[in-house]
Amino acid sequence: MAHPGLTHSDTLWYKDTIIYELHVRAFYDSNGDGIGDFPGLTQKLDYLQDLGITALWLLPFYPSPLRDDGYDVADYQNVHPAYGTLDDFQRFMQAAHARGLRVITELVANHTSDQHPWFQAARRAKPGAPARDFYVWSDTEQRYAGTPIIFRDVETSNWTWDPVAGAYYWHRFFAQQPDLNYANPRVLDAMLQTMRFWLDLGVDGFRLDAIPYLCEREGTNNANLPETHAILKVMRRFLDQHYEGRIFLAEVTQTPADIRAYFGEGDECHMAYHFPLVPRLFLALCQEDRTSITDMLQQTPALPDDYQWALFLRNHDAMGVKMLMEAERQRLYQAYAPEPRMLLHTEIRRRLAPLVHGHLGRIQLLYSLLLSLPGTPIFYYGDEIGMGDNVVLEDRAGVRTPMQWSGDRNAGFSQADSQRLYAPVIMDPVYGYQVINVESQERDPASLLQWMQRMIALRQQHQVFGRGEMTLLYPRNHTILAYIRHDATETMLIVANVSSQPQRGELDLAAYTGLIPREMCREGEFPAIGAGPYGLTLGPYACSWLRL
Ligand code: GLC
Ligand code: CA
Repeated sequence: MAHPGLTHSDTLWYKDTIIYELHVRAFYDSNGDGIGDFPGLTQKLDYLQDLGITALWLLPFYPSPLRDDGYDVADYQNVHPAYGTLDDFQRFMQAAHARGLRVITELVANHTSDQHPWFQAARRAKPGAPARDFYVWSDTEQRYAGTPIIFRDVETSNWTWDPVAGAYYWHRFFAQQPDLNYANPRVLDAMLQTMRFWLDLGVDGFRLDAIPYLCEREGTNNANLPETHAILKVMRRFLDQHYEGRIFLAEVTQTPADIRAYFGEGDECHMAYHFPLVPRLFLALCQEDRTSITDMLQQTPALPDDYQWALFLRNHDAMGVKMLMEAERQRLYQAYAPEPRMLLHTEIRRRLAPLVHGHLGRIQLLYSLLLSLPGTPIFYYGDEIGMGDNVVLEDRAGVRTPMQWSGDRNAGFSQADSQRLYAPVIMDPVYGYQVINVESQERDPASLLQWMQRMIALRQQHQVFGRGEMTLLYPRNHTILAYIRHDATETMLIVANVSSQPQRGELDLAAYTGLIPREMCREGEFPAIGAGPYGLTLGPYACSWLRL
């Protein structure tokens, strides 16, 4: 089926887009009950369009007991009543598409809520009955020993005893999230029906939540099994057979090589997050040395033309650090999680601005990299204005507080009594909504928001950022990170200083002799490139985008 809303159907749109991640609940409350909703989000589409982003990624908005903020789905084919109705969703979709905004939703295929009717039926069905077989059961906790526990802050086993079933059920996340059994072909069928339901409503892509864990097999660590890739290939075939220009975005929190496998042979996902890069960007900043970034980029496999990395700085979860070496982890904790409660088990549960102490230069540097490294950038709602977090709230709730629209009551997010908000707005003197909000930044040309709009617009003018190749340069001064982005028509030089002091770097640009670098963010020409080393001086945390 062709795309219902957008007129152009460029199948590689996901390489040129900029994605904005948000939770409907957190964005804008249209009916004053303290909870953001689809009509509210629809009202705010102008804001998103002005920002310049071209796709939205919506966190789960399905009926759910919200034990894991909606990643515990109780009904795959409906909208949580607090966020509106299916009609509201459809109106939102039309309004988004009318503005040229694509919409990516969550396909939480690995597990459901324990309140899902499938689970309620399964626990009551006899062992061996088809309904029972929707989930993974065991008489002992010894099955699949050696499988890591992901939410180690709360869970001590991947098995939980169900007194109704008289058996243990398997779960990779919270105990309230039983894993579906993909050894049962009916489960996959049900998931394909779920895909069909949302694709028919015009959804442009799915974020495939926790995709490495679909299948289980004794004697393995139960991640990335060939069986799981086989399921994914069926899902992709289904997508391609019936729809055009829709995509899969894989959530795989593993090494670049393992992530690479989720693109398959062009028959699995279109995009995957570059998880390992994220903590290394922050590491480079506190070490004042680019090496952690360049090492990771070197280890990143090149992707064929139709695949894309999805890049981000922060998201709705805590920042994972498990792929770092112990000393690097400690360095990150020291710099970014000085209080124990800033950690969720081993991960750092903070937003971008407070992570870098609200330092505008560091925020802009990180965004300049996000927007110019190979991949599709993702913004986390609120980070475009430098919103803060609330480390007093449990789990990851501190980075999921209401969007700060203005200095009015409840940050302009809701007309409800403040104590009825789904979560308190940020109120501290540094990041509180009186200081950090959209309205004031829209009036201030020097604000983060307006800088962001300009940078997004700049990136959107040059396809080379989304699609071009990258060549790393290695100036002797390790505080300087430099790379070339190039395609058949354009060559961009990105030079960044990851340190707190002015730095000089000498670049080997001999291949570009005779060309003149031009500043893209400001007006201005640099001296022509000669045969010798090309010297550049950069202020603290400065990043220049130069067009050759
Ligand atoms: C993903 C989500 C996370 C959720 C988990 C379990 O990792 O990003 O928020 O808790 O899946 O569904
Ligand atoms: Ca509401």
